[in-house]
Amino acid sequence: MRTYVPRAVGALAGLALLLAVGWVAWLWYDSRLPDTYDVMDYGAHDYGGGSVPSAGHHSGISVAELRGPRMGAADAKFVLTARTATIRLASGRTVEALTFDGMSPGPELRVRQGDLVEVTLVNDDVSQGVTIHWHGVDVPNAEDGVAGVTQNAVLPGQRYRYRFRAEQVGTFWYHSHQVSSKEVRRGLFGSLVIEPKQSSFDLDLSLAAHTFDGVATLNANDGFQSRRVSPGSDVRLRLLNSDGTPRRFTVQGTRFFVLALDGTDLNKPSPIENETLEIAGGGRVDIAFTVPRSPVWISLADTEVGLALNARGASRPVADVTIEFDPAGYGEPTATPFDASSPSDRRFELTIGRWPGFLDGRPGLQWTINGRIFPHVPVFVVEEGDLVRVTIANDTDAVHPMHLHGHHLLVLSRDGVPVSGSPWWADTLNVEAGEQYDVAFRADNPGIWMDHCHNLRHAADGLTMHVMYTGVTTPFKIGDTTHNEPE
Ligand code: C2O
Ligand code: CU
Repeated sequence: MRTYVPRAVGALAGLALLLAVGWVAWLWYDSRLPDTYDVMDYGAHDYGGGSVPSAGHHSGISVAELRGPRMGAADAKFVLTARTATIRLASGRTVEALTFDGMSPGPELRVRQGDLVEVTLVNDDVSQGVTIHWHGVDVPNAEDGVAGVTQNAVLPGQRYRYRFRAEQVGTFWYHSHQVSSKEVRRGLFGSLVIEPKQSSFDLDLSLAAHTFDGVATLNANDGFQSRRVSPGSDVRLRLLNSDGTPRRFTVQGTRFFVLALDGTDLNKPSPIENETLEIAGGGRVDIAFTVPRSPVWISLADTEVGLALNARGASRPVADVTIEFDPAGYGEPTATPFDASSPSDRRFELTIGRWPGFLDGRPGLQWTINGRIFPHVPVFVVEEGDLVRVTIANDTDAVHPMHLHGHHLLVLSRDGVPVSGSPWWADTLNVEAGEQYDVAFRADNPGIWMDHCHNLRHAADGLTMHVMYTGVTTPFKIGDTTHNEPE
């Protein structure tokens, strides 16, 4: 009798322990990815309250058929050769990089709106393979450059041709979407500028911020580059952040306008000064000003890296910049194709969390989407023509620059406060810790599209999901046996 109670308790505790171990073992087992898998087979399909395609619905179209124009002479033709190279920063420091044409950033591609663009990617010696994704350009799905979803990785000795019509205007960039967390960091990216048919700037430059081996650079320059520009000239700077974490720029010595965010012009921007510009990992901000008689400095905050105009002999003033530029109330409202009052066809939630669990069999603290760990994250299923609303919430203490391929998001509100200035369209939205955004997009570009954090390390660690149109399938697969590894 004396041992009866403890024995029962012991037995129960043993059973509970066994169940717990069994449960954890099952979680581990269930998290493992096969050697080869199809993005179509993973994730929990979420229809956002919209219609669910009937079971026998097999009027499928393959991603591979959703191509840009195959016929017709290209208006702008480029060849980009991916290869390993040693690049030299302005300070003389060298970096073992992955490059396009021996440089990083790769060549700036400049085209005009309406051009049929043709880019041939050649992989010289990048052993893991390469693709090119046109970040922010809403190309047809097969031109989107995602290994294992829209094409196979281009292995050494192989080539691949992209063709698309440049319909948008603005500042974009291109980068590899094969093992992107490593390849972009090591240098496989460049800027892509789509100019309007008429452009009126005296100087129009793209400046890409990138960290090479821990060293901050602007266009691979790790110091200040200086230029002489005649006072009165109109300058447009296209600032791009190819890192995974936000970067701040300061502008000193002039008032300036913020012309565009993520490649989309803002309506009636007003001049500002002494405001820092924060750019999401993967985001772009275009600014413009008229060159004054005195020097102007554009710098990467907290570094000695930047661009100095007419600054010979002058020293940069200590930054007195404290206000952060806020796109949510800048410029003036104007009509948009839809707004917060438009009835949506589907409504999704995308809540980012962090929980202990297994990612492909590895234990740890994992990123979660709506409480689930990759590959059990949701797949947002949409139908062509739908107006889709998404609430993106960040319940972690990290920043997540969320990037949807193939579409632009109209930002409706942040933390419940409606956007009050110019319409704000984003393709890479910096969602800070604790923030919540309401966004909307029109599902007008059929395909299977990635929707992921552009801190590419986070994406590789599972902060990745897809927006899938009903009836679209992909013949491509991810995994070791295919060489395809998009993140
Ligand atoms: Cu700039 Cu999915 O990427
Ligand atoms: Cu992230």
